[in-house]
Amino acid sequence: MKVVVGTNEEISKQIAEEFIKQVQKKPNSVLGLATGTSPLQVYANLVEANKSGRVSFKDVVTFNLDEYIGLEGTHNQSYRYFMNENLFNHIDIDKSKTHVLKGVGDYLDYANKYDDLIASFGGIDLQILGIGSDGHIAFNEPGTSFDSLTHVADLAESTIVDNSRLFNDISEVPTKAVTMGLKSIMNAKKIVLIATGKNKAKAIKELLTGDKSEENPASVLIDHPDVTIYVDKDAYSLVK
Ligand code: GLP
Repeated sequence: MKVVVGTNEEISKQIAEEFIKQVQKKPNSVLGLATGTSPLQVYANLVEANKSGRVSFKDVVTFNLDEYIGLEGTHNQSYRYFMNENLFNHIDIDKSKTHVLKGVGDYLDYANKYDDLIASFGGIDLQILGIGSDGHIAFNEPGTSFDSLTHVADLAESTIVDNSRLFNDISEVPTKAVTMGLKSIMNAKKIVLIATGKNKAKAIKELLTGDKSEENPASVLIDHPDVTIYVDKDAYSLVK
């Protein structure tokens, strides 16, 4: 795993450049996208690059990592809403080519088809990930099998607490989600992970210095041939 340390502004710019290069090289790239606070600056950079005409997303296909069970795509904490608000509504992407797991209705059916759907587009060319304070990626909590494909997951207590900052009350945070599995993520050809802030320092230390273990979901990445971990000083502070 390659590691890049910089300010949030610097690393977000560098990751955005990776995405821009990818789409310039292959206009119908398949991009794996993440939600959370971590990728927000990356998405802002992509919006700017699109508006200035440096890159077009009109032929791009996207797949998001996860979605809360119980939230409609119109709910302001759903990940579909997040993607529309923070990226899709501001770029020239064809929304019918954007895939986000469903949180209601036939969500199970859709989840069961998700990995095959990704494969039918040739697989994910470039995947961005955040990381939870407990080392989760997407909603794969400690204990998730490294062989997992897209599935229903229970959120860890610490994740519910972390994510409650975005809801009016902790009781409103869904306790279950649909998520791409660890194997689904490993199928991506290239992966970038972004982590900033002290709250991520322990997870980053375990990822960069710990062993591969299903108790640390992000450690699945150790065996991937093309992963870059982008961190700020705070997230990196326990490594050195
Ligand atoms: C959520 C998401 C993850 C994300 C993590 C960290 O639980 N399911 O995909 O990486 O939170 O979020 P943040 O970037 O807001 O710290």
